[in-house]
Amino acid sequence: MVFEEIDSENSYRLLAPRPTIIVTTINSKGEVNAAPFSFTMPVSMNPPLVAFASVTTHHTYRNITEKEEFVVNIPTEAILEKLWITGEKFPYGVNEIEEAGLTQISSKEVSPPKIQECVAHLECRVEWIQEAGDHDVIVGKVVHADIKENIMKNGLLDVGKVKPVLHLGGVDFVVGDHLKKVR
Ligand SMILES: Cc1cc2nc3c(=O)[nH]c(=O)nc-3n(C[C@H](O)[C@H](O)[C@H](O)COP(=O)(O)O)c2cc1C
Repeated sequence: MVFEEIDSENSYRLLAPRPTIIVTTINSKGEVNAAPFSFTMPVSMNPPLVAFASVTTHHTYRNITEKEEFVVNIPTEAILEKLWITGEKFPYGVNEIEEAGLTQISSKEVSPPKIQECVAHLECRVEWIQEAGDHDVIVGKVVHADIKENIMKNGLLDVGKVKPVLHLGGVDFVVGDHLKKVR
């Protein structure tokens, strides 16, 4: 097998396709923000902690430093075009949920709203933020989570029904509905 060297700055492209989330936040004036992120992962089951990495110039980051809360919204193929709109540059204070034609609904435990069209929501309070190169890692404790009815099968996400959106890079996504069992 022949391996060719890849520029280490592009090595993150090999950790793909990545689950993509929409993070919703709110600022101290009560203005709502939404943006997609694919540098994301669970980091602890007990306590339940999730992480994502954001550049510090994002409105999401600014809101999180102000209010220390966020919601991880799990999108599906059905709203991929709308997810993309939430990632466009809007002036600070503009609500990307509205811009994308999505619907915001109240969260149970945190002040940022969640997105109705997303199939699951993890309501989080910030545990810590750590600088990591050109991004900061934001770790949140999940204080409440919900999922649309009938989309779990044997305790796992039913990818046939949900079709999660996986980010390959740039405008390229993989829709993860191909299930392969090892045994
Ligand atoms: C699919 C997708 C994944 C993205 N993932 C990240 C990410 O993990 N970290 C990040 O800092 N920006 C990421 N971005 C870029 C931000 O979503 C984008 O710059 C957005 O405008 C930031 O919005 P905000 O300033 O309202 O927070 C991603 C964009 C897309 C479309």
